Amino acid sequence: MRKNIAAGNWKMNLDLDGGKKLASEVINMTADEVTNDAEVILIPPFVHISGVQQLAASSNNVSVGAQNCSDQESGAFTGEISVAMLKSAGVDYVVVGHSERREIFGEDDTLLASKTKAVLEGGLKPIFCCGEKLESRESEQHFAVNKAQIERGLFGFSKEEILQVVIAYEPVWAIGTGVTASSEQAQEMHAYIRGLIAAQYDQETADSISILYGGSVKPGNAKELFAQPDVDGGLVGGASLKSRDFVDIIKSFE
Ligand code: PGA
Repeated sequence: MRKNIAAGNWKMNLDLDGGKKLASEVINMTADEVTNDAEVILIPPFVHISGVQQLAASSNNVSVGAQNCSDQESGAFTGEISVAMLKSAGVDYVVVGHSERREIFGEDDTLLASKTKAVLEGGLKPIFCCGEKLESRESEQHFAVNKAQIERGLFGFSKEEILQVVIAYEPVWAIGTGVTASSEQAQEMHAYIRGLIAAQYDQETADSISILYGGSVKPGNAKELFAQPDVDGGLVGGASLKSRDFVDIIKSFE
């Protein structure tokens, strides 16, 4: 069956020393305290990846992810980072389509499908993000918005490819705001997304894909969120910058 995952998206925070310190704390505390079989993914800024990967290499359940990648293989793309580079640095996962990439950097569904393709072809696993803005939820367009993002970003792929994808549902109104979706709202959307995958592929495929919730996940709400049948873990921003909080979140799986 599908995996439970706690992923920490550090965003543009911490210098290299701070990143290595946080990674070692999380790795050591996870080894000492965590008894469940959840996979932990540390997602630092690009320049920290090698350092964090060296620390994570000795751990069985901690992997490293990247926050973004280019959809191009190589060449004259100043400032970009390719999937092959990330793979050579020991990265296993790449976040694609975080709402900050969609909103601040104008990444559209076509580019995100292309990035997802590059990640899959490069042999890494995409963490594909979707999520509606507040106005879409208020106008009850939230199912339609997530459906369109998933269809355009993911449904061009084969069943074998889609099985490599982790989906993260992150309602934009809950990211970094301290407002969390209720466990009922999260479960409702996760079940809806799983239903979309079942309709496009099949139920077995849908049941094999981990769907993470993101948006103000904290030690105080993780247990209830992760207890929902279709919530397979979290993509955690702010709380992943504090080792104590993040490890408590990792410990929140039943
Ligand atoms: P947050 O961020 O936990 O700080 O709300 C989540 C995310 O953006 O992935």
